[in-house]
Amino acid sequence: DGFSAAQLFGQGVCYTYDDVIFHPGHINFAATEVDLTTKLTKNITIRTPIVSSPMDTVTEADMAIAMASVGGAGFLHYNMTQEEQIANLKAVKAHRLGYVTRPEVVSPDATLEFLDELATRRGFTSACVTDTGAVGGKLLGLVTSRDAELVADRSTKVVDVMTSASDLLVGSATDGVAALEELLLKSKKGKMPVVNAETGELVGLITRASIKQKKLLPPPGAPSLDKKGRLLCGAAIGTRPADRDRAVALAAEGVDALILDSSQGDSTYQIEMVKFLKKTIPEVDVIAGNIVTQNQARRLLDAGADALRVGMGSGSICTTQEVCAVGRGQATAVYKVANLAAQYDVPIIADGGIQNSGHVTKALTLGASTAMCGSMFAGTTEAPGEYFYVDGVRVKKYRGMGSLDAMKKGSDTRYLSESGHLKVAQGVSGTVKDKGSVCKMVPYLIHGVKQGFQDMGAKSHAHATELRNAGDMRVETRTGAAQAEGGVHDMHSYKKVLW
Ligand code: XMP
Repeated sequence: DGFSAAQLFGQGVCYTYDDVIFHPGHINFAATEVDLTTKLTKNITIRTPIVSSPMDTVTEADMAIAMASVGGAGFLHYNMTQEEQIANLKAVKAHRLGYVTRPEVVSPDATLEFLDELATRRGFTSACVTDTGAVGGKLLGLVTSRDAELVADRSTKVVDVMTSASDLLVGSATDGVAALEELLLKSKKGKMPVVNAETGELVGLITRASIKQKKLLPPPGAPSLDKKGRLLCGAAIGTRPADRDRAVALAAEGVDALILDSSQGDSTYQIEMVKFLKKTIPEVDVIAGNIVTQNQARRLLDAGADALRVGMGSGSICTTQEVCAVGRGQATAVYKVANLAAQYDVPIIADGGIQNSGHVTKALTLGASTAMCGSMFAGTTEAPGEYFYVDGVRVKKYRGMGSLDAMKKGSDTRYLSESGHLKVAQGVSGTVKDKGSVCKMVPYLIHGVKQGFQDMGAKSHAHATELRNAGDMRVETRTGAAQAEGGVHDMHSYKKVLW
């Protein structure tokens, strides 16, 4: 009944996730027993097989912190200067689990006018005050909107209205998060800066609101940590000569994996870059791509890539297939490349086109070790950019890195269009709805994936591979009518609430 994956994907037709459907297998275990532990790269293991894309409307420090906190990983985009990318990486590496992500910090000389600006931009209610105006500086005090709101002269300095550190409840970083939270809750105060007790330097902030929010979120899985116990973080770079310096600088700050970000990764530029990186900074794993065929994969694997990023034109904002006439249906691309990469024991990342947990399940059971998301995570609290309203709907911007909009800022190297002033867009720019926190979304996605694995009778990634290779995982294509039937139909109206 049905086809093996080898039969289905060997017929000269390429399929994407929605084209294929899996036959259910036999269930003899609970969904909670499914173990989704996986390889991000040859040398990095993570518990949650989902990662965020290096796009400038998806992954900066906040997203990378959130993704590593829930057991996945984030890749910092590189449509910013080397210094900015390093600052983002440092913020991830400095973050402590349980603390507020990147607390607002100002210098004592900042004016109330500056605080007003912060309030509009980032929803300021309070800020720590340190001598350097940043985490790591000596804690001088705390300023809240209440301290500042009734002061008529907005050129007044923060130091004149703040509460001094000596009058604050201040925690010591040597105490565990649980103890610090208890201390804050007992105190009835709203916020507690935490310092290095010996030096008085600000380490982070714990708030009543963040404790409350944590209680409302589903329990996170084990976070992804590096060898020093810091949050895991990846970053993207290009393949220009200047990117070699950027790579070495990122490695010095502890980046765990580098993605060579090209829409067509099978190039001499990328092969040379992989070889350079493996020789110069062997401690950092290199992810090459994007590719969709076994021939492309072979060249990058032979060059020494530690993982491959698969997908060309499948992304929600992509127009590469229309503009350049190249690409492949994502289900076929994942299956074919995964088969070859397995011979090298190298994992692949299924990148683009993921719209729901079913797509993640399909990507993983067809051979990907992780799924990379762009649009799914755009519009979350942790995605870069501010919320705004379009037709009464709260949205954030989401754009392709090959959109004219993004290329204007420098991402054109990804599309090899730096030669000349005529830029051809390979992506679009638009908006996506507010989706709340990614820390809430990922656990729901993961549970959906676990149920999918259970339905197929697969207990783990390795088990799914075994079933697929033995021809025991049966698949078929769906007609347009079958796809329509598989979605919601015949409703007058309905609300799709996913989590
Ligand atoms: P999703 O479907 O998750 O896809 O939004 C994200 C992936 O799309 C790729 N990407 C692009 N592809 N033109 C393209 O052809 C673009 O402008 C573009 N921007 C991003 C990228 O691989 C990303 O992870």
